[in-house]
Amino acid sequence: MSHPGHTVGVFDSGVGGLSVLRALLAELPHARFVYVADRAYAPYGERTADEVTERSQRIVAQLRRETPLDALVVACNTATALSIDALRHTHHDLPFVGVEPALKPAAALSRSRHIGVMATRGTLASARYHKLQERLEHAGDGAHPPHFHNQACDGLADAIERGDQALTGTLCERYVAALQQQTPADAPIDTLVLGCTHYPFEAELLQRLCGPSVRLVETGAPVARRTREVLHERSPLSCAALPRLTLLSTSEPEALGAVARRWLGIETPAAHWVC
Ligand code: DGL
Repeated sequence: MSHPGHTVGVFDSGVGGLSVLRALLAELPHARFVYVADRAYAPYGERTADEVTERSQRIVAQLRRETPLDALVVACNTATALSIDALRHTHHDLPFVGVEPALKPAAALSRSRHIGVMATRGTLASARYHKLQERLEHAGDGAHPPHFHNQACDGLADAIERGDQALTGTLCERYVAALQQQTPADAPIDTLVLGCTHYPFEAELLQRLCGPSVRLVETGAPVARRTREVLHERSPLSCAALPRLTLLSTSEPEALGAVARRWLGIETPAAHWVC
């Protein structure tokens, strides 16, 4: 069991990390969470690696100045891909848990060996992602290696962030069709990795577009389990009387609060956070 009273920082470019927070709240019933949505700088997916790293460093440094943290969850595939090494280097005393597209679980599930991956351009272009994909495509018995079909979903996280249902629908249709075109008719994609934390909130729509034979894979639950493991042996740093959940946003906090209510059923008002 985790120690009661751990404090965990969580950040994403916006509301997407709430899909990870949902799993964290379920996995760690005694922990307290401080969630930061960097909406003023969203989306991260089409920014340069330097920009994303600079924002990630600022957010973590400021969060730590304000609140003693026992762990930090980078609830964003893009920030993990581009910045987690730099964050670990700067904050070597703080355990980090990152979010990566779930290629390995997908490879274990796929029978057709054709796996679709939807993610941001930044994640798919990163060295970290390339290494992960290559390792898996060349691992195992070699007889039936998995084939990953990558689809950069420009604009999709942003449309979800802004609650633009019409654009979200159009982009999901476009990207699922593009993925289907990439694969052979006799061995279609049977597994789809949701490689951006915004996408699980559109899982129903994506499932409908892909059809029932495709299994959708996301990372919230494994990331939450990993966070529990990381906290297991650590005594909580602080007994500060923080609430169970603090929601902060660098822009339009009301929108973060509204999405948390709609998606997670949480009645926590979000505050504006200058960073
Ligand atoms: N939710 C983030 C991810 O998992 C970032 C999306 C974005 O800001 O582009 O990649």
